[in-house]
Amino acid sequence: MIKTMISKSVIGKIKGERLFCGLDIGSRTIKTCLVKYIEEHKPELLGVYEAKTSGFKDSSVSDLAELSECIHATIEGLTQKTGVKLKEVQLGIGGELIVKRFTSTVVPLLEKGSKVIASNDLKKVQTQARLLGMNMEEEIIHDIPQYYRVDDINTAINPLGLLGRKLEIKSLLVLANMTLIRNITKAVNQAGYDVASLFFTSFVSSQVLLDEKLRREGVALIDIGSRVTDILIFKDGLLKYLDNIAFGGDDFTRSIATQLNLTFDLAEDIKKSYAVALSSDIKEDEEILVKKESEYVPIKREVIFHCIDPVINQLVEVILNSLKASNLSDQLNTGIVMVGGGSLLPGLIERIEQSTNLLVRMGKLNCIAKNLNNTAMFSSVIGLAQGGFDKLAVFSMNSNGQEKNFVSRICNHIKEVYQEYF
Ligand SMILES: Nc1ncnc2c1ncn2[C@@H]1O[C@H](COP(=O)(O)OP(=O)(O)OP(=O)(O)O)[C@@H](O)[C@H]1O
Ligand SMILES: [Mg+2]
Repeated sequence: MIKTMISKSVIGKIKGERLFCGLDIGSRTIKTCLVKYIEEHKPELLGVYEAKTSGFKDSSVSDLAELSECIHATIEGLTQKTGVKLKEVQLGIGGELIVKRFTSTVVPLLEKGSKVIASNDLKKVQTQARLLGMNMEEEIIHDIPQYYRVDDINTAINPLGLLGRKLEIKSLLVLANMTLIRNITKAVNQAGYDVASLFFTSFVSSQVLLDEKLRREGVALIDIGSRVTDILIFKDGLLKYLDNIAFGGDDFTRSIATQLNLTFDLAEDIKKSYAVALSSDIKEDEEILVKKESEYVPIKREVIFHCIDPVINQLVEVILNSLKASNLSDQLNTGIVMVGGGSLLPGLIERIEQSTNLLVRMGKLNCIAKNLNNTAMFSSVIGLAQGGFDKLAVFSMNSNGQEKNFVSRICNHIKEVYQEYF
């Protein structure tokens, strides 16, 4: 049970200043940050904090009290660092929780003649596409229109002001299961915070890592988490492809643990301190001493490399297959940008570069905290804060925890009618 109630005010706030807290509940690590925005000033990162996730397993809440405690302790850690008490967070989810789906539909504008397309027409076709593209138990996290088509012939990114008789849309929806979201939100509320908005972490990361030029010319963002690797491809300024692969940094750890008969936690420490993805980085006969039960045993660094080498090959292969499946691999003119804790394995970037023949580099923030040390781990929370500031969310909450989402309300109504009659 959480005993300390969080003050619902932000202390030390100056006029015109707005503070946004990002909270990313990952399978292994929970991360948070606080970003300050003052009109006409560059956003300033006030602090970041991370802790081990608990009470959250297989992408769902396994222990509500434990997860709430974990969220509370993490945000409290941020408060200690920044001196700012927080009321609400911009919540991020990712990994296996995320479902992606393309949807398309067409609406008539006029029976006869043509009409100037207005923003209401865009809203109408977008709402219809969302309703058709989502299942009953899902919630839309992001909706990314790919193109509009007017009267079957004129394809436009923005059809406002064009003349037409019917309007078609194709969108990429990022969705998640409503019950899973509600349970995560409940844990945040129980920890003492409101959820202002909900985002897909890799998508908001892309907004603070990839500038317009990269997104226009073609780039892939690869986010290697602990259980899942997300691949996002941008071209012509739009997210065109999204794939989530059940493969992550924990697969390397598990392989070390199994082959060397070690606990997962010990294998994790060894991986973070000694594992490399390139054998050329290992000096001959280099050894480490590992405490196994009561004695220290020497393990050759090369042996650790051989434990993870086949797993790296598998990861590289699934990345290659995914890029191929996107049909966009020959349009990645600015290469690949990597983030996520899993990408911190030394030499992994080079391995991906060798097999894809593309330029691969670690992500760098394009506006806030350009010199943050651990961008791979914290770009998600900084993207969440920025998403909150930019009001990017499709899905937002009222302070009483109810969804403000328009589509949500319509869907709930449809569900009620459905349940009444069937
Ligand atoms: N220095 C490092 N070297 C190698 N791997 C690392 C390093 N630091 C962290 N990792 C790995 O990164 C993974 C955690 O990354 P991250 O925090 O991005 O995942 P997550 O958000 O918890 O997971 P997911 O996104 O799958 O829910 C773990 O597998 C961890 O072992
Ligand atoms: Mg993650």
